[in-house]
Amino acid sequence: MSPLFLFIILLILLFFGAFWGVPWIPTKKEDYERIAKLADLRENVVFYDLGSGTGGVLFYFAKKYRANCVGIEISPLLYLYSKIKSLLQKRVKILYGDFFHHDLSKADVVFIFGHPKIYKKLKEKLVKELKEEAKIIVACWPFENARPICVSKKKFGITYYLYKKTSLMRG
Ligand SMILES: C[S@@+](CC[C@H](N)C(=O)[O-])C[C@H]1O[C@@H](n2cnc3c(N)ncnc32)[C@H](O)[C@@H]1O
Repeated sequence: MSPLFLFIILLILLFFGAFWGVPWIPTKKEDYERIAKLADLRENVVFYDLGSGTGGVLFYFAKKYRANCVGIEISPLLYLYSKIKSLLQKRVKILYGDFFHHDLSKADVVFIFGHPKIYKKLKEKLVKELKEEAKIIVACWPFENARPICVSKKKFGITYYLYKKTSLMRG
């Protein structure tokens, strides 16, 4: 097998999520605290990352805040990497597959760094499955027709938008 072929296969496996609308672009470590603040993270809060990549956000929150973190990842390589890592951190659980096919009803906070083209379907799922008081944090692009309850902006950085399920229901 040629190295070029292997390289192409590796790229496809890494960026598999792009076929579902979001390629792998990890959240910057320097943004973790902004997300934690929006989520008001504490011990035992159930934090879901939809499309969790290598799980960086999850491992950080599990260690620092003792949050119970769940990641769902569709790219086989990213899933395997984070799954193996999760064997050493009991507060992190990594699930394989399309997050649209997973139940989110246990989440206190849902985080997503995804493309707005999936927002309509995502919003329907969140409204249907989440607890009344659940929080939703989205990176970069706000939901249309829904007012965020808090926005974390940084010059030259990514903006994060916090919603409650109730604020999504109004949109
Ligand atoms: C922008 S990255 C964010 C990674 C991680 N959440 C972070 O903040 O570092 C988006 C991730 O979502 C994954 N993904 C895209 N669509 C997905 C889907 N429908 N189900 C599960 N994972 C998905 C991609 O493979 C990619 O790893």
